[in-house]
Amino acid sequence: MTLRTRPLGSTGIDVTDVCFGSSPLASMARLYGYDVDERRAIDTVLAVLDSPIRFIDTSNGYGENGTAERRIGIALREYGGLPDDVVLATKVDPDPVTGDFSGARVTASLHESLDRLGVERVPLLHLHDPERIPFEQAMADDGPVAALIRLRDEGVVDKIGVAGGPVALLGRYLASGAFDVLLSHNRHTLLDRSADPLFESARRNGVGVLNAAPFGGGMLAKGPAVQPGYAYGTRDDRVAAAASAMQDACARHGVPLAAAALQFSLRTEFVDSTVVGISAPERVTQTLDYASLEIPAELWDELETLVPSADLWLD
Ligand SMILES: NC(=O)c1ccc[n+]([C@@H]2O[C@H](COP(=O)([O-])OP(=O)(O)OC[C@H]3O[C@@H](n4cnc5c(N)ncnc54)[C@H](OP(=O)(O)O)[C@@H]3O)[C@@H](O)[C@H]2O)c1
Repeated sequence: MTLRTRPLGSTGIDVTDVCFGSSPLASMARLYGYDVDERRAIDTVLAVLDSPIRFIDTSNGYGENGTAERRIGIALREYGGLPDDVVLATKVDPDPVTGDFSGARVTASLHESLDRLGVERVPLLHLHDPERIPFEQAMADDGPVAALIRLRDEGVVDKIGVAGGPVALLGRYLASGAFDVLLSHNRHTLLDRSADPLFESARRNGVGVLNAAPFGGGMLAKGPAVQPGYAYGTRDDRVAAAASAMQDACARHGVPLAAAALQFSLRTEFVDSTVVGISAPERVTQTLDYASLEIPAELWDELETLVPSADLWLD
């Protein structure tokens, strides 16, 4: 099958509407509940490169010493290099030992990433999880945002994004006018709509919109009985109950919960690309199958009646 290719806001970068999210590749059992060995991770990336997915999301900080980036780098070498039509985006992270997230650290983080990935440049570089430092510190002259702007001005990267969780804080970053792309996660899913106004505002302003973690980190793919964690933390029982009711509704229509969760994001007009985390080669075809599965209108209507109330959404 082919995926839709869409403009990423006004960046001039075109992306497939499914993006391969690589954090599960880093074997972060604390977040996902299982380990992923190196060969499985590399084979997953190779399967992605052989698929219609032409967009990869990673980060300096996924796993100890950049495990995800290092594994992607090995896969790219095995593949014979990054195909010209694949957009590879990464993110800058604080120094894992000192916690430094200064402008100087941004440059060092990018160079570590390029080294691990084995590429000369990336077109898109995000500020990763800015909730880890105060906004004022991030926006200071010697802070990470000024450094990202400099990298863009100098042509080291083409575009810069802000990628994080809390919607109100991301709104402040967007209002600064510095960013070309916004990524938020777990906040536009079957279970949570808290990012919708921010995404819509980004879209209106020509900022690219990336919706990450359509499965809430796994619960909406594996089901709440198999994946008890939600959005990298413990779940509220009412959220798990809603996921369970959604799984039952899907089953009555013969639709896997994961297919509905993925398509919920894919069919949203203001989302340019949906960043899906996978760590097994067979998931690539499965994801594409889920993206194209016919889902009856009655199921969408039923799922809407099961959305948890807004007080259960993430901040
Ligand atoms: N701040 C940020 O920048 C930020 C934050 C969050 C996420 N992201 C990006 O967005 C990506 C997506 O987020 P995420 O990976 O945390 O969460 P997610 O996409 O909501 O869920 C990933 C989980 O779903 C499972 N899964 C996927 N397809 C499945 C299927 N067909 N059947 C069963 N299980 C399936 C994966 O399992 P397997 O491992 O078994 O394949 C994995 O455990 C990340 O990988 C990352 O690239 C960025």
